[in-house]
Formats: sequence, structure tokens, C-alpha cells
Amino acid sequence: MITLGINYLGGPGHDSSAALAVDGKIVYAIAEERLSRNKQDSNFPILAIQACLNHANINIEEVDDLVFGWPKLKEHFLENIKLNFKRDLKESFPLQFFNYYRSSTIRSVKNIMEEHQLFPKKTTHIDHHLAHALSVMPYLKSENALIFVVDGRGIKESTTVYLKKDQSLEEIKRINFPNSLGVYYAEMTSLCGFRKYADEWKVMGLAPYGKEIYDLDDYLKVENGFHQVNHRKLLNADQIELNGRTLQKRKSDIDSINDEEVKNLAFSAQHYYEMAILELMRYYTDLYNLKAVGLAGGVGLNCKANGFVQRELALEEFFIQPAATDDGTALGAALYPFYQNKSIQTMTFDPYLGNSYSDSEIASILEKYKLKFEKLPDVEKDAAQELANGKILGWFQGRDEFGPRALGNRSILSDPRDEKMRDRVNEIVKYREGWRPFAPSILAEKASEVLANIEYSPYMILTDSATEAYESKIPAVVHVDKTLRPQTVHKSLNPRYWNLINEFYQLTGVPVVVNTSFNLKGEPNVSHPSDAIKTFFTSGLDLLYLGNFKVYKTFN
Ligand SMILES: [Fe+2]
Repeated sequence: MITLGINYLGGPGHDSSAALAVDGKIVYAIAEERLSRNKQDSNFPILAIQACLNHANINIEEVDDLVFGWPKLKEHFLENIKLNFKRDLKESFPLQFFNYYRSSTIRSVKNIMEEHQLFPKKTTHIDHHLAHALSVMPYLKSENALIFVVDGRGIKESTTVYLKKDQSLEEIKRINFPNSLGVYYAEMTSLCGFRKYADEWKVMGLAPYGKEIYDLDDYLKVENGFHQVNHRKLLNADQIELNGRTLQKRKSDIDSINDEEVKNLAFSAQHYYEMAILELMRYYTDLYNLKAVGLAGGVGLNCKANGFVQRELALEEFFIQPAATDDGTALGAALYPFYQNKSIQTMTFDPYLGNSYSDSEIASILEKYKLKFEKLPDVEKDAAQELANGKILGWFQGRDEFGPRALGNRSILSDPRDEKMRDRVNEIVKYREGWRPFAPSILAEKASEVLANIEYSPYMILTDSATEAYESKIPAVVHVDKTLRPQTVHKSLNPRYWNLINEFYQLTGVPVVVNTSFNLKGEPNVSHPSDAIKTFFTSGLDLLYLGNFKVYKTFN
């Protein structure tokens, strides 16, 4: 059976994507933004769908079920009317009506699919949180586990807890919008002067610079497995009461690092979120006496909270879907027909699900652009030597990663031993705030020497502390609070990247490289070799490795 999962609500929404499953295994997945080059693209993912079909060399008529990770748009609109009536949405009703009208007539899914000649055998719409939960289910090895889906909002729901028992999912708790942890974190993001539903990770990065914990009890509480977010005070708030003072929403994030109140607010917001997700998970793991947990939904990208929860609850298994935001629902949607047939297979999540390019394809692109390049017999060895020489590299290999993290296939790499490297990468490549941390990729076999608590983190989605021995050896990747966000690199999952780090280790004695996504500020991660070449020549990157080719900045 061939199924296609789609993340597209029909109007509002973000991170449109498509995933293809064959006989219950995801064989390809990509976010629309990687192909359209429009960050967080929310349009109908036609490019992603075509890429899925091209990958399997099939026509849409061969797809047995095209499954949307959302109910029909009408349900969303009707729920919005109710929310508006209760003053729980605070969005312009005429604008919503206009968008709905447009999305249900001229730009309806039916019309768009007809326009693109998309006629699968069957089309299905499923519950949004179920799509998130199914994006986790196959990757939990434990027969019995809890799956938490926590995001801004589905149709009604904001948090759903599922009990996984072998092939079944039982919904054991549902908390509805606008009582939403996603809303809580988004509004805190906005109050700090960042963009909500986009820059939440900046709050997480800024939090360790804060010192004082403000009393946020009035805004977020958790009791008996239920969170209570004070949405009346938080939704679209222009100010917030903190310890008897009023903090006005910041208009921009230009000076966040010098703004004590904002740093303290970020610190407090993160602290309260960590305590909330901990108490929520503690309640249900205690209730069901389980130590295996899955997590999806946008807040699943809060690596700091994830690491905290794993340590505090001593979880034996904790799988967080790396594509935790809505892009990941394409995976769950594609797997839905197999869930219905009770044929979900347990497997290890492979994040390398996008496009790859052969040496001959890459060579023809390089020749077309008349670039200076050479083919190397051992690209990993050469790149490791350049890293040890202090060069900043563009590293483009194999298939695109699915999800926001670069995991060694579309990455910018540098040497972690030099603290100044972080500033250099920020200044000449990423053009982003100097206070934001970079993450390390670590040889899995050496993880216990580098990391204080965890040894397995292949998707860069948990934070941990560095061991004392390594804290000073890799200053470029240790954050101000001594934490780091590691990717443990396993030879079985990414042999070329493992080889590169191993070569660097042989040269330097340090089994770690700095890994950040291969993009400029505000752009999606690169996908095609042309994207990588463009980024290479519009940044301060020193060298570019494309497959087995080394590309220079001087011309022929
Ligand atoms: Fe979602």
C-alpha cells in the first residue's frame, strides 16, 4: 500500500509538508519551504507532493490514500466562530471570514488538487493531534508508552495525552485551546519582542542569561494532570504584570541581551514551562506506571525542557519527534492507514528523508556555474583537516534532513575548541545574535566522556551538561549555563558524518565538531546543491564540500 501524508490545513497554518509511506515505512518526506525557498511556507505543498512522487517514480493515481493531518477547514472555521463569540480568539472576524471564503471556494483543496491533476484513489482527513501522535508511535520501542501532543492548537485541542498499547492509541486526556502551553510560550515570545510561532527558540536561548524568576503563577499552573494557562491575560497581550511591576511588550529584539527585564522574563517563562511539562508528564507516568514517553507538537522543540524532563523523570525511553511542529504531521498522516489496519511497525527514526544528488549531477552543476572545484578521494579526511585548520565549512551530503535540525547532511561545520569560533560563525555566516548557542555533533562512542548525563541523542533535541573534562575543551558549543544541545553521531545512521568527526578526533583528540544548519538568517535550510552554492558565495564560509567535491571561492 502506498500512502501520502500532507500537512496543509487549507488556509491558515504553517510548515506545509508531504511524506510518502510504502507498506508502512516512510520512504520520503520534505517540507515545502525547502523546495519553494519560502521559510515556513504554508501554501498547498505541491512541490513536496511532486517530490514524493518523483522519489518513488509513481503517479498520483498509484497512491492508495492521500491523508491530510487536519480535519476539513470548515471545522476550523466553525470552531473559530465559537471562540470569537466567547472572546477567546481575539482575531478579526471579517478577515477570518474572508480567508475562509477564499480557502473554501477559489483556493479550496478540491480546486487546487484539480488544478494540479491530483486524483488519488482516496482522500482522508484526520484529527490533527492524532497525526502528531502517529508521527511518534512507530519510533517508540516500548509496547506500552504515553504519547504527549502539545502544540498551539489543533481544531479544539491544545494538549492531548494518548496511551499507546502495542497497535492501539487510547486518548486519555484532552485539553482545549485557548488553554494552551503553545499559546503561553508564544505570547511570552511576543512579549520579549520576538515573533510568536517562529522565534520561540530565541526565548530558550536567552533564558540562561536571566537571573530573577518572576512569579508567573497567575499565568500558568498545573494540577492533577491539567494545565491552566491564563489566556484572558496572555492572548495578544501588550503588557504583563510581573512581581507588582508592569512590563511592556518589547517592539523588537535588537537589544534583548542588554535588557535585564526581558532576560528575566525569558528565564521565568522557560522555568515555568519546564515545571509545567514536568508535572504534566509526571502525573500520567505515575498514574500508568510507565517510563516510556513520546512527544510531538511545537513545544517538543524545547530542547532545554526535554532534557530537564528526561533527567527528572528518569525516563527509560523518550522519543521526541524531531519534526515536532506541524511539518511532522505529514509523517503521521501517511501512517494513518497502517494504524487503521493495525500494521504499524516499530523502527528507528531515520531523519534523512529528502533529496540526494549523485556526483555526476553535482559535477554538472559546478561546471555550469564555472566554479573552481576538485574531486577528492577521501572527502571526510580532507574536511577534518580543514576544520582543524580553523576553516568554516559548508557540508552538503546525502539526503536532506526532515525537521528543523541539520544533522550532518546540510550543515555548517567548525572547530569547537576555539571559543571565538562561535562569534566568527555568527558574524560571517549566520548573521545572527551573538548570544545564541551553537550545538555539538559528538561521536556516539565518546558521548559518555563529553556529556554528563545522556549518551543517546541522535536528533539534537535534548540539552545536557558537558562533563568537567570537556567543558573547557569545547567552549564554542557550551552555553552560558554550561549546557549544550548534543547530536550523538552513530555510524549506522550517518557513516560519512561519523567518519568526518572521527578523522577530526584522530587529528585533534576532540571527538566533537560544531554543527549548525546550512542557511543564512531568515532562510530555510539548503536543499539543492544550487542553494548551497548560493549560500557559500553570499556568506563568509571558507570552503564548500558537495558530495565528493571540494569547492573554492576562487574562480577557474
Ligand atoms: Fe500542531
